[in-house]
Amino acid sequence: MGGFFARFTLWKTLVLIGLFLNLILFNIQNPQLLLTRWGPSPLSFIASDDRNRTNLSHIAFGMMGSVKTWPHRRGYLEAWWRPNKTRGYVFLDQPPPPELLPWPSTAPPYRVVDNLSGLFRVTKPRYELMPRMVHGILELVREEHDGVRWVVMGDDDTVVFVDNIVDVLAEYDHNKYYYLGWHSESVVSNLWFSFNQAFGGGGIVMSYPLARALAADMDGCLLRYADSTSADLITMTCIADIGVNLTPHKGIHQVDLHADFSGYLSAHPKVHVMTFHHFDAMDPIFPFKDHMQSTRHLMTAADVDQSRLLQQTICYHKKTN
Ligand SMILES: *[C@@H]1O[C@H](CO)[C@@H](O)[C@H](O)[C@H]1NC(C)=O
Ligand SMILES: *[C@@H]1O[C@H](CO)[C@@H](O)[C@H](O)[C@H]1NC(C)=O
Ligand SMILES: *[C@@H]1O[C@H](CO)[C@@H](O)[C@H](O)[C@H]1NC(C)=O
Ligand SMILES: *[C@@H]1O[C@H](CO)[C@@H](O)[C@H](O)[C@H]1NC(C)=O
Repeated sequence: MGGFFARFTLWKTLVLIGLFLNLILFNIQNPQLLLTRWGPSPLSFIASDDRNRTNLSHIAFGMMGSVKTWPHRRGYLEAWWRPNKTRGYVFLDQPPPPELLPWPSTAPPYRVVDNLSGLFRVTKPRYELMPRMVHGILELVREEHDGVRWVVMGDDDTVVFVDNIVDVLAEYDHNKYYYLGWHSESVVSNLWFSFNQAFGGGGIVMSYPLARALAADMDGCLLRYADSTSADLITMTCIADIGVNLTPHKGIHQVDLHADFSGYLSAHPKVHVMTFHHFDAMDPIFPFKDHMQSTRHLMTAADVDQSRLLQQTICYHKKTN
């Protein structure tokens, strides 16, 4: 018996060495094969194909708002919304009253959120608003599907830099599960909710396959975490249940800050700025302008070149340097 096993082990070793040499020699003789075997996967070839590169038409936006906040917040959405180019909706808690109609064509079209009282007949959510906001993801995915690669959720006071969003998302493979966001600048906000979640006002960015997976078990998700105090936390937890972790992106800004914000702006990381939230809560970012004028002023710069927005430039004066 012992002899048999010794011979067997010897044979196995020889076969393995043979296979190993074969693999190496074979591949050296066929560099093409070496490339296809170890090089980038075919999917990343598709992603880097310029003709099929992710553009604005592949991104669906879902902005969560309410009839009450709409009149004084619509300017934040209209500052960046590009009618007939950006796709998506602002989700309202109830149908807009006659004084808000006709709905402006400069704003995202609106949808009224689903009535979830049927779902919560037995289990009551701690705060009714929270599941409704998470459910917005399903409502967006339900409406927007053809050619959608990414879903961006925000609030009605989120300012979005769409060209930068396109640039950033084009670098990721939209066929995989991705969940992008960034924590709050305020330690207390992270302590209250999580250090590892996307904050919804700053923006929750999901690849379409992930958003669809989330929507597929939306009822289960909302019932499991009905006791949660935060929509962002429910979203993160349900995405974690799918097995996906946060991909942080430093260009997404929740902005739980107040008053003078200029220090934070001048220290912006060297990444594309994707969003800003809570402009209302801070001092206007330009002197002698109110919040809305400041937002529009920022967007005139953004319309020229978003990629350089808030990036520091060092200029050398050749004569004196
Ligand atoms: C966006 O990409 C699609 C191909 O996926 C293409 O048909 C469309 O023309 C592009 N749109 C713009 C504005 O470049
Ligand atoms: C473009 O990308 C989409 C989505 O990934 C894919 O279904 C389609 O086949 C691609 N088209 C081309 C021409 O590569
Ligand atoms: C958007 O498209 C619709 C028709 O699809 C058109 O009536 C409307 O004028 C367009 N709006 C803008 C701002 O181009
Ligand atoms: C939701 O539906 C229930 C009955 O199914 C109704 O009593 C309630 O008023 C509805 N809520 C809203 C906001 O429409």
